[in-house]
Amino acid sequence: SANALIAPSILSADFARLGEEIRHVIEAGADVVHFDVMDNHYVPNLTIGPMVCEAVARSLKKDGLDAAIDVHLMVKPVDPLIELFAKAGATWITFHPEASDHVDRSIALIKQHGCKAGLVLNPATPLSVLDYTLEQLDVVLLMSVNPGFGGQSFIPSTLRKLKEVRQRIDASGRDIRLEIDGGVKIDNIREIAQAGADMFVAGSAIFNSEDYASTISRMRDEIAL
Ligand code: DX5
Ligand code: ZN
Repeated sequence: SANALIAPSILSADFARLGEEIRHVIEAGADVVHFDVMDNHYVPNLTIGPMVCEAVARSLKKDGLDAAIDVHLMVKPVDPLIELFAKAGATWITFHPEASDHVDRSIALIKQHGCKAGLVLNPATPLSVLDYTLEQLDVVLLMSVNPGFGGQSFIPSTLRKLKEVRQRIDASGRDIRLEIDGGVKIDNIREIAQAGADMFVAGSAIFNSEDYASTISRMRDEIAL
């Protein structure tokens, strides 16, 4: 699709050279910086928080790059971090409904702080969580791996799930992104796009490649077919 967004997950970037890595990947044609926040509680890994997000936002600005930051919260509780990430320059904030006691309130909080809001559904999470939330959302993020680590393999049942969410979004008539995260590669991105995704997170596929620009343009070629 024409306005597909490519969102490299910086989880697989070289954290010792993070600013440089981000500039490099945006100049290579990526649209969005996917920022994975893990708390060693909701998921068994620990990554980066609002201070690093603020530094990333500042460094993008300094380099004259207008890439959005897509903050994927894998944390529990969710609400205390929302304002901090909004102030740190997040454009999107997504969270896992299992990690919030009051999902509608967390969505409202994200929007009150001027960010775009999304729910993240784990591979085994049913779509019923969208029944009374979809109209509030700017993005639905389907996990195609279990959250916590980069470099895992795409779980095939996610393709069927993508198709179902695509139908729901189209039926809603709203402008809602369908984002996919986990195991996205050059050789499967085409079927993922055909199943309905229009925002593609890719960590290891991009950052473990020799040439970010060629990887991203090959991905774009696949989803344009
Ligand atoms: C996993 C993260 C992903 C991860 C994707 O919990 O949410 O964003 O970095 O990495 P790859 O693309 O390597 O599966
Ligand atoms: Zn992620």
